[in-house]
Amino acid sequence: MEESRIRRRDLLNRVMSAAEAAELIKDGMTVATSGFTPSGYPKAVPLALADRASKEKIKISLWTGASVGDELDGALARAGVVARRLPYQTNNSMRDAINKREVSYIDMHLSQVAQQARYGFLGHLDMAIVEAVAITPEGHLIPSTSVGNTPTFVSLADKVIVEINTSQPLELEGMHDIYVPADPPGRQPIPLTRVDDRIGTPYIPCDPDKIVAIVFTDIKDNVRPLAPVDDISRQMAENLIDFFKHEIKAGRLPANLLPLQSGVGSVANAVLAGLAQSDFTNLEFYSEVIQDSVFDLIDLGKMRFVSGTSITPSEEGLKRFYDNLKTYRQKIILRPQEISNNPEIARRLGVIAMNTAIEVDIYGNVNSTHIMGTRMMNGIGGSGDFSRSAYLSIFSTPSTAKKGAISCIVPMVSHVDHTEHEVHVVITEWGVADLRNKCPVERAREIINKCAHPKYRPWLEEYLEKAIRKGGHTPHNLAEALSWHVRFEETGDMALPSGAGAAPSKEEGGR
Ligand code: COA
Repeated sequence: MEESRIRRRDLLNRVMSAAEAAELIKDGMTVATSGFTPSGYPKAVPLALADRASKEKIKISLWTGASVGDELDGALARAGVVARRLPYQTNNSMRDAINKREVSYIDMHLSQVAQQARYGFLGHLDMAIVEAVAITPEGHLIPSTSVGNTPTFVSLADKVIVEINTSQPLELEGMHDIYVPADPPGRQPIPLTRVDDRIGTPYIPCDPDKIVAIVFTDIKDNVRPLAPVDDISRQMAENLIDFFKHEIKAGRLPANLLPLQSGVGSVANAVLAGLAQSDFTNLEFYSEVIQDSVFDLIDLGKMRFVSGTSITPSEEGLKRFYDNLKTYRQKIILRPQEISNNPEIARRLGVIAMNTAIEVDIYGNVNSTHIMGTRMMNGIGGSGDFSRSAYLSIFSTPSTAKKGAISCIVPMVSHVDHTEHEVHVVITEWGVADLRNKCPVERAREIINKCAHPKYRPWLEEYLEKAIRKGGHTPHNLAEALSWHVRFEETGDMALPSGAGAAPSKEEGGR
């Protein structure tokens, strides 16, 4: 039964156990895997590799599509197997190892990984480990719940290990559209002009001679729970929807908006959930991850079509996806991340990019990755792929973090991922700052007045006015610029000492 998923019969003799396949991975190798968010990543072989590492020293460089499940990032980080890692992660054990600098982490724009690998910027690729639902009679691979960078990894790797996951339904076949652009100087325009265009093959081309092992597994995608939508996220979503209505009225957006891109995490999911409550219809989605709220929009008949690289649901969302696969496969295409996140396409389609910030400064620079400027949270992911090329680039964040002890609107961000030049709109639960067509000081006043928590506003205004007195196009008091972060590190609270202003209540504010 299982073996019927291998439609090329001469590959049957390459079926082996996960432990046997893991033996093929040697110390010092660069190993690339399928997987994007905890979806469609190999599970059995990485677990066997982690087990092997308890008996012998083995270090590898690990490339993936984006974040992957604990069986891969977590198990290998805890076993000390990973020496280098790219391009994105969200795993607690991996994050700890990165922040202790036990793992050298290269945080990359996700659309650029495949081409940089092909250009030779990342070095030689020894092995690809790929989750598939089936192997075709030609030896090609049918991916599962994500595509990520797998097509390029399979074409570059010397050898390929295939994990056929029988927990992934065969009905996924046909949902994928695999297209890999030629490299410069021979690159042509990517022939995609509509969200639902199909431009490639439904399988990942693979030379069957490269397949050195096939492993069967039924370990399910280890998907993550989403935080329930709270009042602050609900308010941010309302602010976003009001802003969209205002833009339609002003003639700057069509009635069904433009293709939407939405970032990862609970805030992004909640913002999108707000759209399900709105009266927008005929929406389109050209994004990277497809979270639970997208299924709501499809079920409500409000979403015309969805293009992404990965199904990224909660546990309930995954069950709902499998149960309704026949409907969803009519409405969803999964593409390589090089195409789902492609700046050429984002610019052509006029994507509305909606991403989440850790903090935003008064001039509109955004930190999406580093807690207090030094500790890596996840990575830039696809946010930069979209924000710089978007029709409209929106960043949301609750106005405060850690129950009000941190202001997410600060004089100067402690790390920059998105500059003032690619941030058009900032949204918090307090309002919408429209930064378009504004000079730096105008932007600062807009962000402070519309987005900062009211109890931090006087201090931000005081900072700005003092800086303006010093002069300059983008006024700053450099000696003071990061004092808020320093104060938090020293006292556990960004609030100024008493007497300098009213301290924000710890009960108020966001995450
Ligand atoms: N200072 C310090 N810590 C902060 C903070 C700030 N200004 N803002 C948030 N945090 C902390 C939160 O307290 C939380 O900490 P915890 O894990 O200890 O609870 C953590 O950061 C995450 O915040 P949360 O509110 O849970 O946010 P989220 O799940 O919505 O994720 C990002 C927010 C920015 C981390 C996430 O969206 C991300 O990784 N973005 C970058 C990648 C990206 O945008 N990809 C999308 C492309 S399609």
